[in-house]
Amino acid sequence: MTKEKIIIDCDPGIDDTLALMYAIQHPKIDVVAITITEGNSPVELGLKNTFVTLELLNRRNIPVYVGTNEPLERDFVSAQDTHGMDGLGENDFELAEPIIYQEQSAAAFLADYFSKQTDTSIIALGPLTNIARALKANPQLGHNCKRFVSMGGSFKSHGNCSPVAEYNYWCDPHAAQYVFANLGKKIEMVGLDITRKIVFTPNHLEYMKRINPEVADFVGKITGFYFDFHWHYEHIIGCVINDPLALAYFIDKNIASGFDSYTDVVCEGIALGQTVVDQYDFYHKPANSTILTSVDTVLFWNDFMTVLLHAQKSVVAHDLETLGLNS
Ligand code: BDR
Ligand code: CA
Repeated sequence: MTKEKIIIDCDPGIDDTLALMYAIQHPKIDVVAITITEGNSPVELGLKNTFVTLELLNRRNIPVYVGTNEPLERDFVSAQDTHGMDGLGENDFELAEPIIYQEQSAAAFLADYFSKQTDTSIIALGPLTNIARALKANPQLGHNCKRFVSMGGSFKSHGNCSPVAEYNYWCDPHAAQYVFANLGKKIEMVGLDITRKIVFTPNHLEYMKRINPEVADFVGKITGFYFDFHWHYEHIIGCVINDPLALAYFIDKNIASGFDSYTDVVCEGIALGQTVVDQYDFYHKPANSTILTSVDTVLFWNDFMTVLLHAQKSVVAHDLETLGLNS
């Protein structure tokens, strides 16, 4: 089977970490590089947390490039309230070996890579700062990347850091606006409308413990803080794991569906970071995005759990169905 090549731009981050675990171990995916953006935590912590995952999976060979802690125009506001001061649920994991990252900056690498390659997609799981900088340096990036999937924004669902804005686009709205306006390829927007349907619960964790205790132990450690945050602020038992859904949809388009539209991002005022989706074509502008609005949670949970637990898909599918863990 030929694997799909991807570069993951991320800000690990609890759900980014779950997405990295899912992508790196997926039989259909080849992660050719990881680029770190500011976001959930400053890039130094995002880098360290990436290596926590790479070490866990014995994949320190994947090259990692680092961005800056500077959104294009705004001051940086992290989401350490959501992900913990260490960005990974306040575990302060220790690495067995020193971090080795690439000298080239994340943006320079992306600009360079997509001046030569046309067979690789980008999965963006954080603020679009690195992508915007790379696109400014290489306007061909959008044309040359195979697909561009971004976890971010929201169509009808409420925001998660203001009444109307989702964190990734709110953190660097100017970058998001620039990428929507200039990528020249439809951004496949996996926003809060569908990620809110993916709630990882203590029951999922209990199931994982029974199938693969080692993986469950790590996942339990990183999601505990996230559970508490969600109970406190959203009054739900469990946590919304946004980022793995972007991967799942990239791997299998049947997992989510929606519509094509022109989309812009608000860069000032009380709606800062909001995605304005022109569903009814008021602006008469060509569609620059595919807005995903519905999700097949059964397909998601079956694939995600199968890969994370190193289990057999038919067994996992049966278990999740009988335990009521796939909706
Ligand atoms: C997004 O913001 C971050 O906190 C998560 O990692 C995810 O990418 C959700 O709004
Ligand atoms: Ca993220």
